[in-house]
Amino acid sequence: MKTVENIFDEVIQQEGTLFKQPEVFTLEYLPEILRFRDKQIRAMINHSRALNSNHAPTNMEITGPYGTGKTTAVKKYFEIIENKFNVATAYINCEFEKTENQILTKIYNKLYKKSVKAGITTNMLKNKIVNYLGKTEKILIVCLDDYGSNKITSEDIDQINKVMYTLLRAHEVDNKAKISLITVTNRRYINFVLSQSVETIFRPANVNFDAYSLNEINTILTDRCKIGFANGVISEKVIHMVAEHAYREGDLRIGIRSLYDSARNAELVGSTSIEREHLDF
Ligand SMILES: Nc1ncnc2c1ncn2[C@@H]1O[C@H](COP(=O)(O)OP(=O)(O)OP(=O)(O)O)[C@@H](O)[C@H]1O
Ligand SMILES: [Mg+2]
Repeated sequence: MKTVENIFDEVIQQEGTLFKQPEVFTLEYLPEILRFRDKQIRAMINHSRALNSNHAPTNMEITGPYGTGKTTAVKKYFEIIENKFNVATAYINCEFEKTENQILTKIYNKLYKKSVKAGITTNMLKNKIVNYLGKTEKILIVCLDDYGSNKITSEDIDQINKVMYTLLRAHEVDNKAKISLITVTNRRYINFVLSQSVETIFRPANVNFDAYSLNEINTILTDRCKIGFANGVISEKVIHMVAEHAYREGDLRIGIRSLYDSARNAELVGSTSIEREHLDF
C-alpha cells in the first residue's frame, strides 16, 4: 500500500517539477514572516503611534545595505496600517518614477483608483491629492524607495526635493492634508540628496536595517526552500552553500535567485533533487 507521501513523490517526479510554489522565488513575493526584523518593525510601529490619535506618523528614513528587507518591511507595514487606520499609502520607486509629475501621478492613481488623464499639470495633481485627503480625512503615507540609488542623477534629485517639499508642506494649503514620508536608501548618508529647505521640515527618524549574518541568511533561505520546493529535494548542505554564496556577495536576493536557478538546472537534466553541480557559481 502506498502512503500519501509515496504517491506525492511519484507524481512530483512524473511532472518533472521540484517546485511546490515557484512564485516564492520571485521578486514580487512578500514573505509571511520577516525573520530577524522585529526590532525594525517595532521601531516603525513606534514612530506610527500618532495614528492612534489620527495624526500622521513621524517621517522615517530607512537605511541599510542590499537585500536586508527594507522594501519588504515597508510593503508589509503599508498593508497592515491601511487595514487598521484611515490611511492611504503610496509606494514609489524613484528609479522608475523620477519627476515630480510622475510621482504625484502615481499617488493620484493610487488614491483615486484610476489613471489620471494625459496632460494634467503638476499643480492640478497637487490640488486633487490635497482635495482627496480633505474629503476622506485619510492620512497619506508615501514611500520613496531607492531614492539614494546610483541610477539617480542630480536632475532626479532636484525633482525628488521638489516633491518632498510639496508633500511635506501640503498641510499649509489644507490643514486636513496630513502626509508623512518614508525614504528608503541603501546609502547611509543621504544628506547629499536633500536640499536644506527639505531637510529642515523632513527631520526623519532613522530605522536601520543591518546586514544579515551568514546564519541568518541560511535560516531565511531554509524557510524559503520549505515553502517553495517539494519535500526533501534540497539538502541542508546545499542550502548552506547557497547561503555562503549570498553572504559573500552581500545580497540575500542572490541566494533566493540561485535557489530558483538551481532547481531549474536540476529539472533540465531530469534530476529529482538539487545538488552541488546544479549551482551556477
Ligand atoms: N527577514 C527576511 N525574511 C524573509 N525574507 C527576506 C527577509 N529580508 C529580505 N527577504 C527577502 O529578500 C529579498 C530582498 O528583500 P528586499 O527587497 O526587501 O531588500 P531591500 O533591503 O529593499 O534591498 P535593496 O536595498 O537592494 O532594495 C526579497 O525577496 C525578500 O523577500
Ligand atoms: Mg529595496
